[in-house]
Amino acid sequence: MIHKKVAIVSGGAMGYKDGGASIGGAAAIRLARDGYAVVVVDEGAMGQRTVDAIKQNGGEALFLQLDVTNSENVHKIIATTKEIYGALTCLVNCVARYSPDMAKNIADISEEEWSKTLDVNLNSYFKMAKYTIPLMTESGGGAIINISSIESFVALPNFSVYSVSKGAVDALTRTIAVDFAPHIRANSILPGFVKVANSEGTRTPEELELWYQEISKQYPLQRVCEAEEIANVVAFLASDESSYINGQSIVVDGGKGIADAHSF
Ligand SMILES: NC(=O)c1ccc[n+]([C@@H]2O[C@H](COP(=O)([O-])OP(=O)(O)OC[C@H]3O[C@@H](n4cnc5c(N)ncnc54)[C@H](O)[C@@H]3O)[C@@H](O)[C@H]2O)c1
Repeated sequence: MIHKKVAIVSGGAMGYKDGGASIGGAAAIRLARDGYAVVVVDEGAMGQRTVDAIKQNGGEALFLQLDVTNSENVHKIIATTKEIYGALTCLVNCVARYSPDMAKNIADISEEEWSKTLDVNLNSYFKMAKYTIPLMTESGGGAIINISSIESFVALPNFSVYSVSKGAVDALTRTIAVDFAPHIRANSILPGFVKVANSEGTRTPEELELWYQEISKQYPLQRVCEAEEIANVVAFLASDESSYINGQSIVVDGGKGIADAHSF
């Protein structure tokens, strides 16, 4: 069966805690609501939770549990998408690596950790885009949406390789936008702090509430972002409503980045 709207979302699993919030999961669910058949890809088994949620709402989706840093897996994802849905019109790259070992400055981080993180946060975005572009072009064009971060523009202390990977994702987005227009538009989304299950760690519900309250103080909107608020922007950038937006880094940080810290 050939679908008109087909999306691949990498990193589309729900958060590990009982299918808790994640940006990729929310994006996949939102795209399915907008009529896309969605191929959810994740190395974690919770991708099935995303697909179950989509199907419960009458949507169309399938889950591929694969590591997207591996080129053979990327080819498998594209071949399956073509075989099952016959087309591809949207790619959302959303995987990321957040290992405590990578939370280091460049003097302390090992070369191995540096490379491993770039392999997930940057090289997988490159491979997924590189190998999906032919199918997207054959399908009449579409949108590539890369999930970056405000760390592309600012540096969180001792989070060196993450910032570098996100800066490079924005540059990758621009080069795709220039080289593959007019049929393919590419944009990136730069969230500030977003409430997702995988960053909760071992905090109790009370500790989590205090943690969110503390972070919220840095944000003019005085609250942290929900995964669905990033998914809304994904849906917009995937749709014709954003038909003249190409190669942009869209900051979704509640105004944090434009707020001055001092007062008179
Ligand atoms: N949560 C935030 O505050 C925040 C802020 C800014 C940007 N982001 C970005 O949003 C995106 C989603 O992050 P999230 O916060 O929802 O976290 P998350 O941990 O819920 O999502 C990342 C997903 O990627 C998957 N993944 C990691 N490596 C993979 C690989 N090699 N192959 C396949 N799947 C892999 C993980 O299993 C996980 O499900 C990331 O790009 C992250 O950098 C998050």
